[in-house]
Amino acid sequence: MADYIRVAGADEIPAGQGRTVEVQGKSIAVFNVDGNLHAIDDTCVHRGGPLGQGALDGNIVSCPWHSWRFDVGTGACLTNPRVQVECYPVKIEGSDIWVSC
Ligand code: FES
Repeated sequence: MADYIRVAGADEIPAGQGRTVEVQGKSIAVFNVDGNLHAIDDTCVHRGGPLGQGALDGNIVSCPWHSWRFDVGTGACLTNPRVQVECYPVKIEGSDIWVSC
């Protein structure tokens, strides 16, 4: 696993929102669930929709393309339990958000 990479300022992803960031050539979706950060693959396993742009309801994000739902804490897909997306370590250090992938 690679070192942590700074992806955003801590104030750039408010509670209840997500964002797509690029980390070493990968698209990662970072979410703020009531102050707790989570990072998963941005690319939806259905047809590649950008999960970082999906609507967040608690810890569940809905893909903006066809509404498949994913748990941002585990990567589990609620719509199709046979698939999931990868999760990555994420942390706040100082005033910045860091992801390792
Ligand atoms: S691409 Fe995400 S639900 Fe279809």
